[in-house]
Amino acid sequence: MNSESFLQYRDGQLYMESISLNSIAEQVETPFYCYSAAAIKARIGDCKSAFESIGATIHYAVKANSNLAVLRLMAEAGLGADIVSEGELARALKAGIPPQDIIFSGVGKRTSELLAALDAGIFQFNLESIPELERLADLCESRGRTANVSIRINPEVDAATHRHITTAVRGSKFGIPFSQLELALERIVRSDSLRLHGLAVHLGSQIVTLEPYEKACRRLREWVIELRDKGYPITHLDLGGGFGIDYGDGRCLAYGAVAAVIDRELRNLGVAIAVEPGRSLVATAGVLVSEVVYRKEVEPVPFLILDAGMNDLLRPALYQASHQLLTLKQSDEAREICNVVGPICESSDSFLQQASLPRVNSGERVALLQAGAYGAVMASGYNSRDVIPEVMITGDQYGLIRRRISHRDLMEYENFA
Ligand SMILES: Cc1ncc(COP(=O)(O)O)c(C=O)c1O
Repeated sequence: MNSESFLQYRDGQLYMESISLNSIAEQVETPFYCYSAAAIKARIGDCKSAFESIGATIHYAVKANSNLAVLRLMAEAGLGADIVSEGELARALKAGIPPQDIIFSGVGKRTSELLAALDAGIFQFNLESIPELERLADLCESRGRTANVSIRINPEVDAATHRHITTAVRGSKFGIPFSQLELALERIVRSDSLRLHGLAVHLGSQIVTLEPYEKACRRLREWVIELRDKGYPITHLDLGGGFGIDYGDGRCLAYGAVAAVIDRELRNLGVAIAVEPGRSLVATAGVLVSEVVYRKEVEPVPFLILDAGMNDLLRPALYQASHQLLTLKQSDEAREICNVVGPICESSDSFLQQASLPRVNSGERVALLQAGAYGAVMASGYNSRDVIPEVMITGDQYGLIRRRISHRDLMEYENFA
């Protein structure tokens, strides 16, 4: 099911589920994020039917959107979590995701974070360096605990995605290089407090072809066989996330296609498989609603200056990403070429360049689409702006799932020396 079908014009107004976005904007000041609960549930359903049919477990990558209301939907559907900080652990637990379904990833887990996860009794730590392995072993010994661990291995597979979201090529900071793998495994099997699960990979994000998954699975299969021959009991493989969504160019990866590759390449290996989708579960279910503060007539093309900026949605500045734009009021104006920018004092604060849009005037409202992942979680108060609210629609109801954190709220945390 296409989750964008939850976004439609009705009687000249853009509706999400059964509510017009303009009617929410009358109550909640722009800019704000707005998510469709039904769209997220539809993606969860697609994901479950693809991966559960091959026996894989799904651990939502909390970093994509960590709002408690979003996490609650994941918990209610029985999904586990992939976390990268103590804060994400706290959120996942608060939303009702059981600790025994939580995997802890990340290259720089601090002592306090490892301890919090140990005390919570999480399912698995994905270790990314030998020093981290040593630290966890020491902490387990001092606490009299055991931990399930997998080694995040750098499979050196180029996923041909943006360089800032490529994670599995030679020289990347992520994962343990192959040359150190046996050293790490030896240290684990000799430890009384670390229990070896297996190997983990994450190839990058917004991957739109199957090839990287095929290559990684083949490599993993060989390694599992080889390592078992050497006496290392590999029982688990974690294939990470990265499944690309359609940002408007029609390129995306279907869950079913990835599941089929995993099943074909790793069937009969006798390992438990986990996946960690983030973006693909939430991106298309969310929009950023904004108002055009000014239409600025300049040559060669006019600017639409939005009240949303790069502090609210960082992806275009960070990854040169572009998000489709729709007007909240259906327009029959002729199309024109224009630039859509934010109000921040940075030239990278630009959403769309040379975009073809129906003419939009000052005061009109627009929605930037596919904003449900890596949007609100990256928002900041840069330029002393508010951290904007998040709204979730369920049928014909909407709720404020994060209130505005105003510039005044943020000043409360500061003092004169
Ligand atoms: C270890 C790990 N797993 C899963 C994900 C989720 O990736 P995506 O949101 O592209 O599915 C990430 C994202 O960076 C990650 O680092």
